Amino acid sequence: MSNSLVILTGAGISAESGLPTFRDANGLWEGQRFEDVASPQGFAADPTRVHRFYNQRRAALATVHPNAAHLALARLEESWEGEFLLVTQNVDDLHERAGSRRMLHLHGELLKARCTACGIGGLRWTTDLGTDSTCPDCQETGSLRPEIVWFGEMPHHLDAIFERLASADCFLSIGTSGVVYPAAGFVSVARAAGARTWEVNLTDSEVSDAFQEQRIGPASEVVPALVAAWLLKTPS
Ligand code: OAD
Repeated sequence: MSNSLVILTGAGISAESGLPTFRDANGLWEGQRFEDVASPQGFAADPTRVHRFYNQRRAALATVHPNAAHLALARLEESWEGEFLLVTQNVDDLHERAGSRRMLHLHGELLKARCTACGIGGLRWTTDLGTDSTCPDCQETGSLRPEIVWFGEMPHHLDAIFERLASADCFLSIGTSGVVYPAAGFVSVARAAGARTWEVNLTDSEVSDAFQEQRIGPASEVVPALVAAWLLKTPS
């Protein structure tokens, strides 16, 4: 297990923990236009509505737990002797709570806030945010926003992720629909680097054709089985 492994996860890995995905029935936008709750323009137009949307999501984190798929990835990281990077599009903290450490959040984190006045980011924030919240750094009130990558904004950690993809031996994608770029293109970058590629999903994604291996089924069953097999033998 000395290969370089990159894993990408999406909302599907947290679905069985009780967090809704974005695009399945009863998806996360819940009847709201995503432009209204997930764009800088939506925030400028109605910050209270946007805060309410993410406050509900942040509060929901207290009611859910990592499932067998999150736990299996943490086990895999612990035993993996080569380079290991878990990239998640999810803004929940279930990977961390399962024990994952070598990981990056591509689309931000619900438990962090950023100040639009002084620019400080990465402020740990576990309670509600509102227009009356005050930045602990510059003391400005009404300037805090969720540390979430909204449409039209640059995803985080792209340099580090593309560097790792360019030398990946294995790439595993779990529970993502493959419609949002750049994440949807990671499989092609890994393939071009010569990586062997696996996809886990309940169904075909928009980019299934780009993968060499596909495992159809719920992540909580398929991922532990895949990890168990990999821990017996380096994927090849
Ligand atoms: P989506 O909601 O687009 O897709 C979820 C995927 O998970 C679908 O392909 C489902 O088939 C699959 N799925 C659902 N339950 C599953 C299970 N139990 N086991 C395995 N697979 C399952 O979510 P993402 O692909 O994560 O971005 O969405 C990507 C980005 O779109 C999000 O990060 C978010 C959104 O716009 C931003 O907010 C910037």
